[in-house]
Amino acid sequence: MCGIVGYVGPRKATPVLLDGLRRLEYRGYDSAGVALVDEGAIAVTKCVGRVGNLIEAVDDTAGGNLGIAHTRWATHGGVTQPNAHPHCDMTGRIAVVHNGIIDNDEGLKARLAADGVTFASETDTEVLPHLIARHYAGDPHEAVLKALQEVRGTYGLVVVFADHPDLIIAARNGSPLVVGLGEGENFIASDSHALVRYTRRVIYLEDREVACITATEVNSVQLDGSDAIHTVEELEAIYGSEDKGEFPHYMLKEIHEQPESIGRCLRGRILPDLGSARLGGFDMSPRDLTEIPRVTILGCGTSYHAAMVGAMAIEGLARVPAQAEIASEFRYRNPVIDPKALFMAVSQSGETADTLGGIKEVVTKGGRVMGVVNVVGSTIARTCGAGVYIHSGPEVAVASTKAFTSQVTALYTFTLMLARTRTLGPHDAVELARALVSVPDVVSEYLAEPGPIEEAVRHLVGARYALFMGRGLSFPVALEGALKLKEIAYIPCEAYPGGEMKHGPIAMMEPGTPVIAIVPDDQHREKMISNMQEVRARGAALTVIHSRGDLKAQSLASVSIPVPRIHTLLTPLISVLPLQLLSYQAALALGKDIDRPRNLAKSVTVE
Ligand code: G6P
Repeated sequence: MCGIVGYVGPRKATPVLLDGLRRLEYRGYDSAGVALVDEGAIAVTKCVGRVGNLIEAVDDTAGGNLGIAHTRWATHGGVTQPNAHPHCDMTGRIAVVHNGIIDNDEGLKARLAADGVTFASETDTEVLPHLIARHYAGDPHEAVLKALQEVRGTYGLVVVFADHPDLIIAARNGSPLVVGLGEGENFIASDSHALVRYTRRVIYLEDREVACITATEVNSVQLDGSDAIHTVEELEAIYGSEDKGEFPHYMLKEIHEQPESIGRCLRGRILPDLGSARLGGFDMSPRDLTEIPRVTILGCGTSYHAAMVGAMAIEGLARVPAQAEIASEFRYRNPVIDPKALFMAVSQSGETADTLGGIKEVVTKGGRVMGVVNVVGSTIARTCGAGVYIHSGPEVAVASTKAFTSQVTALYTFTLMLARTRTLGPHDAVELARALVSVPDVVSEYLAEPGPIEEAVRHLVGARYALFMGRGLSFPVALEGALKLKEIAYIPCEAYPGGEMKHGPIAMMEPGTPVIAIVPDDQHREKMISNMQEVRARGAALTVIHSRGDLKAQSLASVSIPVPRIHTLLTPLISVLPLQLLSYQAALALGKDIDRPRNLAKSVTVE
């Protein structure tokens, strides 16, 4: 979703800003713009579409050692050039970029219009430069502070003034901003991804903090004028390469990185001889674990599917009541929070607004939340304060793949730890711990021989409808497979638990309808075989993902995709792999923009 980059220092600002925007492209956006402060004036260039269009439009020989830039994902107002950021006041001497939503923009607009302000865009953001201009009498900091007293809503806001070619002002409320500290130069961004090329030393701004940033100093105060205390943090070494390497798309690269990313998630955490695990960040003793009465796991999108697998594993194995909740629903249904219960929040980006909203609801009611997060230092990781990093390394493709398998791996690791204090005897625990340690090898084994994915794609391409079907732990896998196919190939499809299929989707079956069945060799296998027979009898073209050597499942398949056998609890980590490849190959066959699908954002920082 929207991205921000700013620079002040001795370099020419334009290349730094454009490079930063390129690095934020993965977040999803529909227009881009840049404002440069030079020779007492502000030059704004903005355009619809890709950052590539902006790069062509910007004069990269232009001077200016200070500037701000933005990628916009439309919320208020269509995808048009006037709606792209930066936005300026009427004199063109103040420019802002903004992530978030101004809730009282209508009232502010009416007041400003009554004072003679004319608006150049349909955005909520545009009230900000006009409001700041009304309060500006030579002191930029004071003008921004006063303007923000009148604003309700969320913002990551960055402001520059033509009169102050050495100063950037940044303010945060609910939308992340991180200051990058260089030698004689400083940076600001909405996402540390934009900064890693230049510096690893960063300051995360807190909510209601307003910072003045020059090339050599960062000073900040709270919105109410009191001091803000912040610490300089070191960005963790980035795991994995940020380039596509030999792969044509980030998504394919990230699918193939899974043996290493799962390995990193497990490293140092599994104790195979004890049949247990250690998750330092959870900060819970075995006694604490025995006292957890229930577990609720929050997430959105793919992270919600990982949460479903985790909840099923926890309840099934550790016998602790557990459920997964869609964060956007949970936060608004006035949930009952048991302060003794454990809440977990799963998020790749650590910035998803709805997940963060759910966490705040739990904390406000006295509950505790552990994060299961990929991006180190992200808002969710810092808000939870405790939890587990999944260590996937940067995931650039919008469609999540390696983050899903690492989220599930982290939740299994917690399940092992929890179950060992309750239900799991040493023998079974050691077996599960060893199976977990073997996952990276089993993933490699599958990826080396993925089966006839392209044959399955032939049934999907051009289909009016497709059905994914699974039971038990394979139901969230089916949901994840369908989500991937919708996200990047735009093929209409849905996922159903096998047992529920007769209560609706069977009406959709006609000769050739593609059905993808996930049938590992677990306690649901026989029931799934019946479900497969039911759709086959109606002419469905069945692609079956089954355990290697399962001849019965194979015999029912139009396309049979065998996967290596593994401990039944861990099957989602293997059966999701062909589904990732299936959506990738389908999108490829249809000529879609795989890494940047339409309308989607990698990091959804607004509701
Ligand atoms: C967006 C992304 C999905 C992702 C979801 C949750 O919708 O497109 O890929 O699963 O957000 O994101 P999170 O960063 O919280 O895991």
